[in-house]
Amino acid sequence: VFVPYDLEAAQKNGYETFMEKEIAEQPFVIKETLRSRIEDHILMPELDDLAMEDIHAIYMIACGTAYHASLYAQYLGREWLSIPIQCVPASEFRYGNYPVDEHSLCLFVSQSGETADTLAALKACKKKNAKTIAVCNVLDSSISRIADTTLYTCAGPEIAVASTKAYTTQLTLLACIMLKLAELAKVEVNGYDQLLHDVKALPETIESMLGMEEQMKEYASFLKEQHDAYFIGRQLDYVSVLEGALKLKEISYVHADAYYAGELKHGPIALIEEGTVVIALATQKDVASKTISNIEETIARGANVILIKAKGVHSDKIAHQIEIPDIHPYLACLPATILLQQFALWSAKEKGCNVDQPRNLAKSVTVE
Ligand code: G6P
Repeated sequence: VFVPYDLEAAQKNGYETFMEKEIAEQPFVIKETLRSRIEDHILMPELDDLAMEDIHAIYMIACGTAYHASLYAQYLGREWLSIPIQCVPASEFRYGNYPVDEHSLCLFVSQSGETADTLAALKACKKKNAKTIAVCNVLDSSISRIADTTLYTCAGPEIAVASTKAYTTQLTLLACIMLKLAELAKVEVNGYDQLLHDVKALPETIESMLGMEEQMKEYASFLKEQHDAYFIGRQLDYVSVLEGALKLKEISYVHADAYYAGELKHGPIALIEEGTVVIALATQKDVASKTISNIEETIARGANVILIKAKGVHSDKIAHQIEIPDIHPYLACLPATILLQQFALWSAKEKGCNVDQPRNLAKSVTVE
């Protein structure tokens, strides 16, 4: 008897693409990444011996989506630690003259643990006697073997070239790492308990975002006739829009740029014309009203704006608005990112693109 058996279809577990399966897995893999990490404080024995009083500078080094996760950690580090912290793409870091020494803490984020530039930057930092920490998803990968300490995301195998679940598990673990560094540096973090509570609740928060797919699918259809899309945000929203724009260009080949909302008037606003799609984020309440006025400036020039916002942020001039659940602003990137993943996914599907294997891209870049 011939039993048809398609391994790939079996691995997709009923989803049409790996990316859709991986988006759907996020509540589970975030839960796995947080397993045994949180009680009334962060449990991270891997870092217990780190003498933060000896650290004079922190470098965050990574490529691609992992670089965006590092930008997120840089933001938290800047908020909480009074130590200079700098995030640099690995391909720049390795050829630049950064004053790394034994008082530097260098963090390397890499899903695969094999990216050539990240690996080279790690080796260079080790040579200069820096303390090195890796955040990897693949056990026993090259980067994890060389770094002093490795903390693992538990995203499981990520097959789609465009990263989804690896990214959100990186954000989750990095939030915990930065909280741990703050504790080691004896810094009191404002709203610590709320933050910890909301980190613990991330799997449920993310689950609730998966239900908003239909809405994002409708918004993605706005790109049908468009060649460009502009993403704007301030503060942590800027990190989310960078990743949202990257996702869109990677899989749907729509030209997408991300800008600081406040920088629009210094150039990019010249690109806005009737019907231009602008995806704006206003999850950071402190600066939301500023972003709203930037959005209104684009609307006045004909932009078709989709706003992803926190509760309590309002503008009746914006036709398309979607709200994320109540969450600590430092964690708002996670639910917002799920929406942006769905936006990119549906735009790509609508255009008939190969979602899992976009042209010219590789899952892991092991050569320069
Ligand atoms: C490639 C992938 C990206 C990834 C980047 C860094 O460009 O297509 O999705 O973010 O490499 O990979 P890493 O394995 O170091 O996180």
